[in-house]
Amino acid sequence: MDRLLITGGNTLLGEVTISGAKNAALPLMCAALLTDQPLILSNVPELADITTLRNLLEHMGVEINKTEATDAGSKSKLEIRSGASPETTAPYDIVRQMRASILVFGPLLARMGRAKVSLPGGCAIGNRPIDLHIRGLEKLGAKIELEDGYVTATVDGRLKGSHVHMPLVSVGATENILMAASLAKGQTIIDNAAREPEIDDLISCLNKMGARISGKGTERLIIDGVESLSGASHSVIPDRIEAGSYAVAAVITGGSLRLKQISPHMMQASLNALLDMGATVEPEGQDILVSAGSRLGCISLKTQPFPGFATDMQAQFMALASVAEGMSVISETIFENRFMHVPELRRMGAEIAVNGAVASLAGNSKLYGAEVMATDLRASMGLALAALVASGETIISRVYHLDRGYEKLEEKLRAVGASIERIQEQDKPSD
Ligand code: UD1
Repeated sequence: MDRLLITGGNTLLGEVTISGAKNAALPLMCAALLTDQPLILSNVPELADITTLRNLLEHMGVEINKTEATDAGSKSKLEIRSGASPETTAPYDIVRQMRASILVFGPLLARMGRAKVSLPGGCAIGNRPIDLHIRGLEKLGAKIELEDGYVTATVDGRLKGSHVHMPLVSVGATENILMAASLAKGQTIIDNAAREPEIDDLISCLNKMGARISGKGTERLIIDGVESLSGASHSVIPDRIEAGSYAVAAVITGGSLRLKQISPHMMQASLNALLDMGATVEPEGQDILVSAGSRLGCISLKTQPFPGFATDMQAQFMALASVAEGMSVISETIFENRFMHVPELRRMGAEIAVNGAVASLAGNSKLYGAEVMATDLRASMGLALAALVASGETIISRVYHLDRGYEKLEEKLRAVGASIERIQEQDKPSD
């Protein structure tokens, strides 16, 4: 197992090309189960989570071929063919590695009339149940059974369009129901749907495949089911969380980074927070230039579904707020256990008090390097950002969390001036 050694104090300057979005690529790969024709996806990032889903799909008999980019301008592509009858079981061994495996559920059920997926179980950032996925598919006519740690759904013939009102906003449940409803008989309306850009990207791709979905970008999605879907070619949108993380890296180090190929509307809440703290943000064509201002002020933030401030950016802003001037308050409303980076940040000198879902930061902390442990993907990035500004060396263990979601992290950070290297870890992780 690898560790990261980061020596803080360098000002980051230059440009970073933003990779394709992990959270868009995962549902798009699952959408390939909706058709026997090839789905060709470009701009898919090379990440551990993508490999996990690839293993799951291949386990189901899905053929996946990667075409490498032939020149700097072209992008590598994944060609995914699920063929006439993919396997309909997603086993525990693979599902436990990544919760997003549940996204095979809706497509398999809609096309094959049957799906059996291991329950994802608990995870580091809370319970994360799948009741909303199940209830939505039941509304479309699926018969659902829970047995031996698996959830099985069956339907006689096609699913039937229905009115699904989501009691709370869920990205994954919206995606699962959307994909299933695309092949249902009749019209489905999803109310209180998630509006994340990754959902819009899924809708764009499904419509290219022949689906009839309207309401993109709103909380009401209307899906007129079709009998079958065809193949398509689609390019994955850029990763707004990766971009936001590099934006924080620029500001926390007192530097300036040009984020290439990301549009501001995808990450407006994070950019607004940076502006409020005193940073400068200049959209330029396809890029955004983010620079530290003359001072870094405190902030009050609350995580919310899109277009609100993303829970996936909370740990990164926690690192930033700990070195800002004055007291900041950060509330987490999406996940119940998403402050695991707090004890580690405290070990680096941050003054943070947690009361339930609210963290209060004294600010003005002079961070120093320490040995810290990554606990989940975004928490790990919070620690890496703190390490960039801390005095001395920070060693982050359990780097596999970062490998799940940040493509070429060390390469990208080194290219803009960070001192970061990967070293071999002696001990094995216990989880
Ligand atoms: C997705 C993202 C993740 C992000 C999260 C919230 C992917 C692969 N992952 O996760 O990075 O942090 O959105 O923006 O896209 N919930 C239920 N029952 C359900 C489903 C969800 O109670 O059936 C709850 C969750 O526990 C959580 C909230 O709803 O409290 C939102 O979760 P959800 O939007 O579903 O997150 P994911 O799709 O798992």
